[in-house]
Amino acid sequence: MELIDGFGRKHDSLRISVTDRCNIRCFYCMPAEGVRFKPQREILTFEEIERLARVAAGLGVRKIRLTGGEPLLRSDLPTLVAKLAETPGLTDLALTTNGILLADQAGALKAAGLERLNISLDAMREEVFQQISRREGLSRVFAGIFAAIEAGFERIRLNAVSIRGLTEGEIVPLAEFARRHGLELRFIEYMPLDAEGGWSAGQVLTGEEVRRTIEREVGRLVAVERDHPSQPASDFAYVDGGGRVGFINPVSDSFCQACNRLRLTAEGQLRNCLFSTVEWDARRLLRGGGTDEELAEMMAACVGAKKAGHGIDTPEFIKPSRAMYQIGG
Ligand code: 5AD
Ligand code: SF4
Repeated sequence: MELIDGFGRKHDSLRISVTDRCNIRCFYCMPAEGVRFKPQREILTFEEIERLARVAAGLGVRKIRLTGGEPLLRSDLPTLVAKLAETPGLTDLALTTNGILLADQAGALKAAGLERLNISLDAMREEVFQQISRREGLSRVFAGIFAAIEAGFERIRLNAVSIRGLTEGEIVPLAEFARRHGLELRFIEYMPLDAEGGWSAGQVLTGEEVRRTIEREVGRLVAVERDHPSQPASDFAYVDGGGRVGFINPVSDSFCQACNRLRLTAEGQLRNCLFSTVEWDARRLLRGGGTDEELAEMMAACVGAKKAGHGIDTPEFIKPSRAMYQIGG
């Protein structure tokens, strides 16, 4: 059995959220106040996650990315990383973090076998960081980035969500910072996955606009070929040789046609899309004596039901009731 959907898209990437909790409150992902996190008994245990990962690897999944909420809030995360790193068939193990707790954990994560790190960094100025995250902490994020470099992570990537009216002034400083430290940088368009229904199309600062700013003020760019067709970003190299910058444009230029990703929420629900309005309850199987075969069939059913695309730009688009922190980035 393989995870191929009705449009021929082969799924070899699984994103696993390990917690819905977070230590900051980015407005594009979480409500400002009154967040109700899931009680611990509803969150998958490491053993349950490992089992699902093993079943997924048996169906052709090669890449796992751990997400959240903020994954570094999950206690003892390096233990899970070490277990996943041993899963036969997996060739790529990655983590997306907001970086706040990374300085303390980078070394242990590297030692446990984590291969790649994405660190969210939307702004270079504390004031803008706070407008987005509604918390202090930018200096800790920088400390986390440097600790990750120190720990020996290669090809560390910074992810920056672009928001019109807020982050225009951050584009050039972010690009220069990334270039100076040899880090890859990707700008991501703001998607309608916030918790407070505040998203509007007018707030989407498109990747194309960001690219033009960089070309004008940082350096000329040439497009580089995608490593893999399912990679959502369009990457560019600076003509002067000083690194790369990429653009993930889910709103202005959807990449759904090449999507290879399946998602598992922290409480064990399988989703075939960020924008999905239905889920498959893997936890029920895990805790109700389900066999590996049944888990595999559920994954295949979830992938099999995947729609062609998210349709953000169509009148029929329904915003999912879950916000980003409840899904996993
Ligand atoms: N639109 C775009 N990106 C988002 N992220 C979280 N919510 C959104 C959204 N509404 C990104 C974060 C982080 C990753 C986990 O997902 O910036 O890089
Ligand atoms: Fe936390 Fe990430 Fe959501 Fe920001 S985007 S609130 S860092 S989970």
